[in-house]
Amino acid sequence: MAYVAFSRKYRPKDFSQVIGQEAIVKTLKNAIELGRLTHAYIFAGPRGVGKTTVSRIITKCLNCETGITSQPCNKCENCLEVDKGSFPDMYEIDAASNRGIDDIRALKENINYAPIKGRYKVYIIDEAHMLTREAFNALLKTLEEPPPNNIFILATTELHKIPDTIKSRCQTFLFKPPNQNQIKEYMKKILENEGIEYEEEALDILSKSSEGGVRDSASLLDQAVTYGRGSVTVKSVEQMLGIVPHNYVEKFLQLIKNLDIENLIKKIEKLDREGFDLHVFWKQVIDSIHKELIELVLNGDSKIFEGSDSKALIYILDLFNKTYIQARNSPIPKNAYQLAVLKLKYIDSIKKIEDILQGSKSFELKADLRVDGKEDKKKRDESVESDIKTILNRIRKDIGGIVSSTLEKSKIEETEDRFIIHIDDSILPFIKDKIAAIHKYFPKSVELREIKKDKKTKNKKRDGSVDKALELFQGKVIKYEEE
Ligand SMILES: Nc1ncnc2c1ncn2[C@@H]1O[C@H](COP(=O)(O)OP(=O)(O)OP(=O)(O)O)[C@@H](O)[C@H]1O
Ligand SMILES: [Mg+2]
Ligand SMILES: [Zn+2]
Repeated sequence: MAYVAFSRKYRPKDFSQVIGQEAIVKTLKNAIELGRLTHAYIFAGPRGVGKTTVSRIITKCLNCETGITSQPCNKCENCLEVDKGSFPDMYEIDAASNRGIDDIRALKENINYAPIKGRYKVYIIDEAHMLTREAFNALLKTLEEPPPNNIFILATTELHKIPDTIKSRCQTFLFKPPNQNQIKEYMKKILENEGIEYEEEALDILSKSSEGGVRDSASLLDQAVTYGRGSVTVKSVEQMLGIVPHNYVEKFLQLIKNLDIENLIKKIEKLDREGFDLHVFWKQVIDSIHKELIELVLNGDSKIFEGSDSKALIYILDLFNKTYIQARNSPIPKNAYQLAVLKLKYIDSIKKIEDILQGSKSFELKADLRVDGKEDKKKRDESVESDIKTILNRIRKDIGGIVSSTLEKSKIEETEDRFIIHIDDSILPFIKDKIAAIHKYFPKSVELREIKKDKKTKNKKRDGSVDKALELFQGKVIKYEEE
């Protein structure tokens, strides 16, 4: 017996087998059950997602010998003929090759006849967007008020090319590709039904690389079974798809972790030489880093990057993502990928920048400490002050008189090795010879410093212009003469 491809063999026979179009299926089933099916539909969506399949199921629902039903029997002659594509009341018209006004005219004549075998005639116009403008116009009136027992389904991969006048007369359903998991389950069912052995992970790879359509997924699976000589393993699937073995990717990540630039460069070189698709490889790398990074950030552990700096990893992932886009436009992708790896050499300086940034935090901290230092100094000053007060009290008690009162009025400053007493030059002569007497009260040596008072500048107010000049030239007054 001739081999039947999975996609044909496993075309859904009823709504329950259709995957990924839950909302559409539910609406149509309800419409059939409630007798609310309208006469014109647009099924829009990418290739191989079920537009023709669902059209055929509707045909069976309306023409099954068991009666109008959302669950056709799939056994009666009508159901079987629909499945075979030979049911006389189902018209599958390829608009790509019957796009003119004459084809539509022929169709319009046909709709006036009663169904041959079933209850309803179903017209499935495939690639409907290919019809000419005249053909669409000729169809308009028919779509608006078709004779009873005729249903039109316009299937298209390019909804935007269908005129609005047509759209407004139809109910539109948007078919979307099933998600990866649904595709995987779909593949699993086929393999189990066929009794073919498979590795779970192999299906992960297959479902991920079949980009969307169910038909394509089925074909890919067909191909994998043939390639793997009757079984579907990770190894055979990787070989078939030109995917770099998974442990290669893991090793590559390990090299990234160690910032082993030399071996990273070599690895890219080797893969390129061995004819692997570097873009596919890079995508695997990006995807793996992405997964590990999420683990690391959210759960604090990662099989490969455990203990790594997640900030550095984020930088690397960002860099690698950008590299992928650039490399795809690069005349020599290998070079673009090697350049990205070379950039890792400077991740250290990036870390250093981070350190500096963190350093600035500690700098702030230190600055804070310095504020504390100020506090300390204040405390110290306070204790010095209280020390000086005690000293002065003793001096007052022991010596008293002008010495004591002068000291109490004077500014006393403590330095590392001495106390400096600032004394007005007019008073200094009076206590100068008494210094020996006060010396013993101070724990350090004592220096009397004369404060010279320029009487003129002290007592006379200068006019504002001098102050301005002082400020402007950052100067000081040496001599001031009044006019
Ligand atoms: N939603 C689906 N659920 C299960 N199988 C599907 C689905 N969509 C497509 N298939 C499988 O893919 C094959 C092709 O599907 P179908 O002819 O319905 O695609 P289509 O949307 O009409 O595509 P095209 O735009 O190329 O005509 C079917 O035989 C079936 O095996
Ligand atoms: Mg189709
Ligand atoms: Zn039936």
